[in-house]
Amino acid sequence: MRRSIIAGNWKMNATLREAEALVTALVQRPIPETVEVVVCPPFTAISHVARLLAGSRIGLGAQDLFWESAGAFTGEISAPMLVDLGCRYVIIGHSERRTYFGETNEWVSRKLRAALAAGLAPIVCVGETLAQREANQTMEIIDQQLTSALTGLSAADLSRLIIAYEPVWAIGTGKNATPEQAQEVHLFIRNGLSQRFSQQAAESVRIQYGGSVNAANAASLLQLPDVDGALVGGASLKADAFQAIVQAAQRRGQGAALK
Ligand code: 13P
Repeated sequence: MRRSIIAGNWKMNATLREAEALVTALVQRPIPETVEVVVCPPFTAISHVARLLAGSRIGLGAQDLFWESAGAFTGEISAPMLVDLGCRYVIIGHSERRTYFGETNEWVSRKLRAALAAGLAPIVCVGETLAQREANQTMEIIDQQLTSALTGLSAADLSRLIIAYEPVWAIGTGKNATPEQAQEVHLFIRNGLSQRFSQQAAESVRIQYGGSVNAANAASLLQLPDVDGALVGGASLKADAFQAIVQAAQRRGQGAALK
């Protein structure tokens, strides 16, 4: 049974004061043994959040990185710098980076390798736009994104890899994928991993769903066989809503254990 992973992508939100209020509320709440919980603050708040998380079971991640370790790359942050701050996870290839900052599949691949080389657990985002879904290109787009990201990786690399399926049309829109839509794509991703590596390796990879996950819809998405967690945007900025999603993931763990 894969361990559920709920990650909060704070995006470009939270001053230090706001970050402190949110994390102080989160660390007071119980984290179920069966759920891995991660917060990904903006770069500016990572070091402060790291101190606040000391001794808690909540893991720390970043929202992006650059593939070189150091050098003349103004404005960029490297994998070793993130490790230095206490990050264990990093989001790569979020659709907002692809859309607003021109990130390509090639860049995602380079960033993924840099993250793995530094010992980070990468959360690689894939997903189709509404136009692509309506043109029946969803699987083709996901396949291209996966092929590019995974080329050259070994089965051993997969043990730390997390994939987030985030349909672009569901991000920040309040319109989440239906459980059927999510399960279909998650299974497609898992089968793709199985074909490229092995069934055993594919079974070990956690695949998160992201896109308008909230306290009300989390349970219906997290009970799906190939949905191993959630990458949460807006709802991760509210301690109560985030906690409710974590609890929904715990129930998933319990349900599976009873089978
Ligand atoms: P929302 O949960 O705000 O739709 O954002 C999803 C997302 O992009 C997480 O990375």
